[in-house]
Amino acid sequence: MEPLRTGPMPERRTILVADDDPASRDALCGMLSTLGFWTEAAQNGREALNLARRLHPDLVILDVEMPEMNGHEACRRLKADPATEDTPVLMMTGFDPRPERTKMVEAGGDDLIVKPAPMRDLQVRVRALLRLKELRQDLRSAQESLRAVVHKQDPTESKAPFDDRVALTAQAIARLIGLDAEDQELAYHAGLVHDIGQIGLPEELLNRQGSLTPEEFARIQEHTVLGAELAGPFRPAAVLAPAIRHHHERWDGNGYPDKLQGPSIPMMARIVSVADAFHALITDRPYRPAYSVARALEILAQGSGTQWDPRLVAAFATSSLPQRIAGDSSQAKIA
Ligand SMILES: [Fe+2]
Repeated sequence: MEPLRTGPMPERRTILVADDDPASRDALCGMLSTLGFWTEAAQNGREALNLARRLHPDLVILDVEMPEMNGHEACRRLKADPATEDTPVLMMTGFDPRPERTKMVEAGGDDLIVKPAPMRDLQVRVRALLRLKELRQDLRSAQESLRAVVHKQDPTESKAPFDDRVALTAQAIARLIGLDAEDQELAYHAGLVHDIGQIGLPEELLNRQGSLTPEEFARIQEHTVLGAELAGPFRPAAVLAPAIRHHHERWDGNGYPDKLQGPSIPMMARIVSVADAFHALITDRPYRPAYSVARALEILAQGSGTQWDPRLVAAFATSSLPQRIAGDSSQAKIA
């Protein structure tokens, strides 16, 4: 058998292991040490929670059945605390994993392993979860950096809240159509940064309705390509860049910049397009007052299947989301 140990990682990661069975806990900590990780041990969920808040481990492994506080409850509390919400949680069970997997998802856990886990299996899961943590941190820092640029873009600060609202709506649409938590988060980020490429375009040009020369229109269209390039240096760009580049594509293939059609338009771009359009419609513009929610939904319905993904428009329009958004927005006028 080829050796499992590949030597310590360049930067040692800390893994917190919570299990009330000392033999099982020691065996797991031993395996993780062999794989090159620092380990910390807890005897129950409550102790794990306290240690996680104090030590900020890179990963928490929780046995499901533990006295005082079980693994699911500890996981729920870790995920509800902003200080530990990004820390991946690997649940561990000695029982039938199928019902446990559902409970793991409900508690916000990231993966489930059956114990005793073979070392190779443990290594693969642990490395995948550590990668997930890096991605979450990258996404957060990319979001903050891009948000800072977006805020800088408009000194009146009226722009930033608009993109925040588009982001929240995109996230809610992703939830409506049953995308998982990761994709809901991506939809939020895509909504936030989709117009990042507008940097450098004169405000007057962006707000003008009609009477654009072909050159001016071409310049406006470039914000999609430029935005995707701007997001390039950020590692999550592989996911965000297509949403930025394609948020002005149309379902019928007459959009820009690539005239993509129907399902070939990336889902995140389709979601952002609906969210962006709705917020634009219910917001005052220099060239027209805000439309009512009812009128905005009519316009979305008219463009369903030509401009926008019909499934998304239907899911959005038949939900309580538009009215809830309107309730939150001082700029929306109720019909
Ligand atoms: Fe745009």
